[in-house]
Amino acid sequence: MSGTIIGIAGPTVTVDLKGLRLNEIVLVGKAGLTGEVVRLERERAVVQVYEDTRGLAVGEPVAGTARTLAVQLGPGLLGGMFDGLQRPLEKLLERDGPFIGSGSSVSLLDSPLQWHFTPFKRPGEMVTAGEVVGQAEEGTFRHLVGAPRDGELATLVSGFYSVCQAVGSYADGTPLSICQEWPVRRPRPCRRRLPPVEPLVTGQRVVDFLYPLVRGGTAIIPGGFGTGKTLLEQSFAKFSDVDLVVYVGCGERGNEMAELLEEFATLSDPWTARRLMERTIVVANTSNMPVAAREASIYTAVTMAEYFRDMGCHVLLLADSISRWAEALREISSSLEEMPGEEGYPTYLASRMAGFMERAGVVETMNGRIGSLSMILSVSPPGGDFTEPVTQACLRTAGAFLMLDASLAHRRHFPAVNWFQSYSLYERTMEQHFSRTIAAGWAEARQHCRTLLQREEALREVAEIVGLEGMQEQDRLTLHSAERIRLEFLCQNAYSEDAFSAPKKIMAMIDGILADHERLEQRLAAGDSLEAALGKGGVEHAAQ
Ligand SMILES: Nc1ncnc2c1ncn2[C@@H]1O[C@H](COP(=O)(O)OP(=O)(O)O)[C@@H](O)[C@H]1O
Ligand SMILES: [Mg+2]
Repeated sequence: MSGTIIGIAGPTVTVDLKGLRLNEIVLVGKAGLTGEVVRLERERAVVQVYEDTRGLAVGEPVAGTARTLAVQLGPGLLGGMFDGLQRPLEKLLERDGPFIGSGSSVSLLDSPLQWHFTPFKRPGEMVTAGEVVGQAEEGTFRHLVGAPRDGELATLVSGFYSVCQAVGSYADGTPLSICQEWPVRRPRPCRRRLPPVEPLVTGQRVVDFLYPLVRGGTAIIPGGFGTGKTLLEQSFAKFSDVDLVVYVGCGERGNEMAELLEEFATLSDPWTARRLMERTIVVANTSNMPVAAREASIYTAVTMAEYFRDMGCHVLLLADSISRWAEALREISSSLEEMPGEEGYPTYLASRMAGFMERAGVVETMNGRIGSLSMILSVSPPGGDFTEPVTQACLRTAGAFLMLDASLAHRRHFPAVNWFQSYSLYERTMEQHFSRTIAAGWAEARQHCRTLLQREEALREVAEIVGLEGMQEQDRLTLHSAERIRLEFLCQNAYSEDAFSAPKKIMAMIDGILADHERLEQRLAAGDSLEAALGKGGVEHAAQ
């Protein structure tokens, strides 16, 4: 089935090809650029092209493929770095240099690497879709190979195989391999969804203590330029207590991604002491890559994440920043001449966003395991204005909101998470969890810490009017302790040893500050002045 190009507008191309389906992949032009059908009309179809359309001409041929945009799921993904269409970046670079050529169809499937496959089933056995038929080893990781559909197995072998070789077959002759393909825009199925109850420990005190996250939950980090979104996302990638991290660098600066990879290559996972890259997959989309590939990248990433979730893993998807994805969506929408909504974003921005974020969750997988997929997405609102459409669209679905505050970042209080305007819907459940598993006093300490921070806020205004000297001793003590909470506890330098705090350490730190506070309170009650109670050295500290 083939046709020709009848119009080109930026990344979108109109073709006179009948019989195409929505979301079908087509090969566009002589170079065979990959594109996806995004609109169908009576006689023609509109295609968004994933590669640079410069040089493409009207009249060039177009061919349908009868396939939708899909990713390959199997060994070879771990430690990998891919573009938005899951093409391994190193291979593209090897072949084309820094300017990725058009029609580059390098894929995971081209890999000559062989993996050891061990069958769990015997020929003659019946299997259902998603049931585990065997495992393939990639380093120390064991990929569970699922049956692509129901049926009777005719053969199943063990040994070393590449992802494109058959390791078995169904009774009707259909081959079975250790790699499967899945359309990125369709969520992978599960038996049922479960409520999230386990914490997602991030090692960041302000998050784990004040705004805790859960495995299977969603969080967004909105923040203006320079407020620390990228550094926070990277800290999550390094320290989060999960089995796997899929990191999507979405349209951010190219050198930022290179630095990230260089650093990750040298680091080890604080939970398992294995190399960090072994549990990381990077999807990189720098701003010089075509918009359509950037739009697709988050779906490619989430599908890979779901694949590992389906093996019973806890997977964390990080995207920095989702605003660049929304901008790609806007660009495509405008080249399709769709009716624009708020600030030029398409009217379906919020529903697309929700559709994507709903792929997070805790599930019972098709093979009866429990897996989770969590998401932490950064948002870069232009001018730091949180009422803009992308922040608002994310807010509707997100379970936690870690608002980065430009004034905190300006004072070099990092992570610049605002402790009044942020929230986490998971705080109650997690408070109970940590009180049970870490320290009985967790909930009480949290409450005390928040009260001190709130009272500080109110007292600060008073202090500005009457001066510190005019204030009551008790209030000056509150200011002193709240300051310690901010500087010693909430601040966490990403470049120091302190970059990671396990829950036990979190509790010990806050406990120390609160115990000092109580001791000083007793001294004041006994009639001592704050200066006397603090002793020498403490006075200056309290007066700052
Ligand atoms: N946790 C942190 N510890 C120390 N410095 C930080 C921290 N977070 C941010 N910074 C500083 O802020 C700068 C900007 O952070 P970045 O993550 O690039 O911001 P954004 O991605 O929001 O533009 C960093 O280069 C670093 O100097
Ligand atoms: Mg950034």
